Amino acid sequence: CGIAQCGACTVHVNGAAIRSCQTQIGDVDGATITTIEGLSADGKHPVQQAWLAEDVPQCGYCQSGQIMAAVAFLKDTPAPTDSDIDSGITNICRCGTYPRIRAAIHLAAELMKG
Ligand code: FES
Repeated sequence: CGIAQCGACTVHVNGAAIRSCQTQIGDVDGATITTIEGLSADGKHPVQQAWLAEDVPQCGYCQSGQIMAAVAFLKDTPAPTDSDIDSGITNICRCGTYPRIRAAIHLAAELMKG
């Protein structure tokens, strides 16, 4: 969207989720930046596994940002309620996959418990 509203461009800067479309490159000089491609070597991060298990995407446009937001969110909120997820994940999904996103985050939280 280019105005930090939708979150489709979410990446991690030093482990924190940020909206890259409104981040100046000079502001992240020297930082560790992780994109969806760098989240895991084999695509098997627990959040990615949960996304596959819950068959979350519809069109897919928002999904990399949703996953990156979910990974950062689960670090701070390892056992979230639906309300925690609704307030903590502010990325927009125009396809309305929110029920599956919630289910995947709950599943990922279980997978990450070990
Ligand atoms: Fe289409 Fe989220 S899956 S915008």
